[in-house]
Amino acid sequence: MSTTLDRPAMVATAPILSIVVPCYKERANVRPLVAALEAALDPTLRGAWEVIFVDDDSPDGTTTEIRTLAAQDTRVRGLRRVGRRGLSSAVIEGVMASSAEFVAVMDGDLQHDETRLAPMLQAVRSGSCDIAVGSRHVAGGDNDGLSNAWRHRLSDGGIRMAQAMLPVRLGDPMSGYFACRRDYFDEVTPRLSAKGFKILLDLILSARTPPRVVEIPCHFKQRAAGESKLDALVLVQFIAMLLDKAVGGLLPTRFIAFAVVGATGVAVNILVLDLARYGGLSFSKAQLTGTLVAILVNFALDNSLTYRDRRLTGARFWLGLLFFIVVCSAGALANVGIARALFIAHRGWGPASAAGAVIGVVWNYAVSSTLVWRR
Ligand code: GDD
Ligand code: MN
Repeated sequence: MSTTLDRPAMVATAPILSIVVPCYKERANVRPLVAALEAALDPTLRGAWEVIFVDDDSPDGTTTEIRTLAAQDTRVRGLRRVGRRGLSSAVIEGVMASSAEFVAVMDGDLQHDETRLAPMLQAVRSGSCDIAVGSRHVAGGDNDGLSNAWRHRLSDGGIRMAQAMLPVRLGDPMSGYFACRRDYFDEVTPRLSAKGFKILLDLILSARTPPRVVEIPCHFKQRAAGESKLDALVLVQFIAMLLDKAVGGLLPTRFIAFAVVGATGVAVNILVLDLARYGGLSFSKAQLTGTLVAILVNFALDNSLTYRDRRLTGARFWLGLLFFIVVCSAGALANVGIARALFIAHRGWGPASAAGAVIGVVWNYAVSSTLVWRR
């Protein structure tokens, strides 16, 4: 019987470059991507590269495909995450698994032009920049791969929002294709927001000093197989990430999401109250209806957005809802109590009710995080 020990010793070359590829339901793209990397990198790196696929336990057999390739080729590595989703966090964990001097981040759907990796690595290696970005928005680059006009508009809007916050000039801050030194990424890692799709933007906004950035023109290809995972939640996460960075990381993203959901609840409350009043209900009944609907909407939104990673289902959903109603009622009592006390101390309507609201939301958040959606 032949074992690996019988095989002739392989000449192992430590990788200089790790290409980290987040992937979710990309089975059909794994093999062509490895072949494309081989063709693009072997001439310059002569085997001294590796690809680290970070797969969130895709149901389509992506993991099996990665394992099959990895069994034949030491340059292919796979990281399988279970019970988690997220492009940015997948990339971060892929980089953590690398010991190479340089890392590159690339999509797993063949939309990024692999022939640009060598010039990107070259730019970082020369020391002339901290991050080399594969850019669709400099001369020589294009964004032809975006599926429709709506995606173009969305992308342009995102670019403008991101640019308003960026400490550096960058034509394509929404790119998910870039390279840098691994120790550079490592240094920034503890401060990353790690939410959503925009790991490059996160990296730049989380760096202590503005990074030196070079843009390498890049053609964005059409997706060959599978489909995009960009959805409404990813957009919410994008805004949350920018907010998180805007407040200097002082407030946790989850708290911001909770507060935004809470504000939505207030709007729902007012709307339902008005509708119920026009519908002929007495003020107190209308008020009660409005409050209940707002609590239900808040619970549903928090369960699917704010605490998405701890989402309650089945019986735990209903138990959680019950807890949530109790928590929010206590929060409302605290809110009213504090506001009243301050009002009596002659601090005026505005400051009193603002202080009450802040105490209410902090209370709700603290108790929700520890009791309703506990780890
Ligand atoms: N592990 C993991 N977990 N991977 C994910 C997840 C996830 O939850 N969601 C998406 N991915 C992987 C996809 O499988 C793909 O390889 C890559 O991340 C990009 O996702 P797409 O769904 O193809 O996104 P897109 O084409 O709309 O946008 C991407 O390309 C843009 C252009 O560079 C994103 O990477 C953008 O950030 C990027 O700007
Ligand atoms: Mn894509």
